[in-house]
Amino acid sequence: VTDPLGAIPPPVRWDGEALHVLDQRALPERTTYLTCRTTGEVARAIRSLALRGAPIIGVAAAWGLALAAAELGGARAAAALEELERAGADLRAARPTAVNLGWAVDRMLAAARAASGSGGGASSLRRALVDEARRIEREDREACEAMAAAAAELVPDPAEILTHCNTGALCTAGIGTALGVVVGAHRSGKRVHVWVDETRPVLQGARLTAWELRLLGVPMTLIPDAAAASAMAVGRVDLVAVGADRIAANGDVANKVGTYPLAVLARRHGVPFYVVAPTSTVDRSTPTGADIPIEQRPQLEVTAVLGTPVAPEGTPAWNPAFDVTPAELVTAIVTERGVARPPYERSFGVLGGARGAA
Ligand code: MRU
Repeated sequence: VTDPLGAIPPPVRWDGEALHVLDQRALPERTTYLTCRTTGEVARAIRSLALRGAPIIGVAAAWGLALAAAELGGARAAAALEELERAGADLRAARPTAVNLGWAVDRMLAAARAASGSGGGASSLRRALVDEARRIEREDREACEAMAAAAAELVPDPAEILTHCNTGALCTAGIGTALGVVVGAHRSGKRVHVWVDETRPVLQGARLTAWELRLLGVPMTLIPDAAAASAMAVGRVDLVAVGADRIAANGDVANKVGTYPLAVLARRHGVPFYVVAPTSTVDRSTPTGADIPIEQRPQLEVTAVLGTPVAPEGTPAWNPAFDVTPAELVTAIVTERGVARPPYERSFGVLGGARGAA
């Protein structure tokens, strides 16, 4: 069985001075890295979708603040903290929905405050931020393994699994969230087959998930998003597994647009619908899905396919990047701390989440 972390190029790589970001816009044709030497360059990579997926956005933001610390020179503690807060605000503004971004910025700023409180000067502040970014990256890698282990009981053998968007090694520091569950099952010898939604309009499923599964030798079939209903109707789907960009305190889940219709279909066909996400994606300070900011993306992503226009010029388009699946349609939420079942307010109380209840 192919080692996922050996087969798939890492989405980010820190070399001690710069963050190298795999440009996912060029996949699957080309494997190229962007070199980010400033926080602004990291924020741009996130905004442009060169780097995407909630957990790795958080990891990259952490490295973005490590870069900001390197730019501080000999600034006094208070000025240094102000500068880091400004850099953190730039990163937070890059994309609004994935809470892992703000979560990582908060963690890095807390580490900066602790380091500057202990009076060690600029170089110890820099060291503290590099250490914290490395910790965030390592914890994310470990969380992926823990989620795959926790979800093992939910995956039968054989299993037909339907997934949406890309939730694999490309968007985490490890084997992935929902796709990590697939990879974990495949690794353990279960006979899995994956139905991969192409994921219009940016095609993360067709370009990225299909690519990862091919590299790993996991059997899969690419389908238009609209074919998911047909696959379920003929009994060819045992479970749906998706990731999340933000999970509200009540268990409502924001994920790539097209996730909510899958949950509705799953309920209609009696198929379990699982969300797999680290606790850094659980935002207990956001009460319900209605409170989650949904990113609106350019109309051109809809009126054109990978840059080629498909609609008459001037056609208006609506392009929300995410949708919200109500908690009542979610069979279970798998985190690195275990499997949460409804009512989620209570199960998150036991498992914990990125931010405490407001
Ligand atoms: O717009 P994207 O590609 O960043 O959206 C990504 C998703 O919606 C993923 O499902 C989510 O971030 C979970 S990634 C493990």
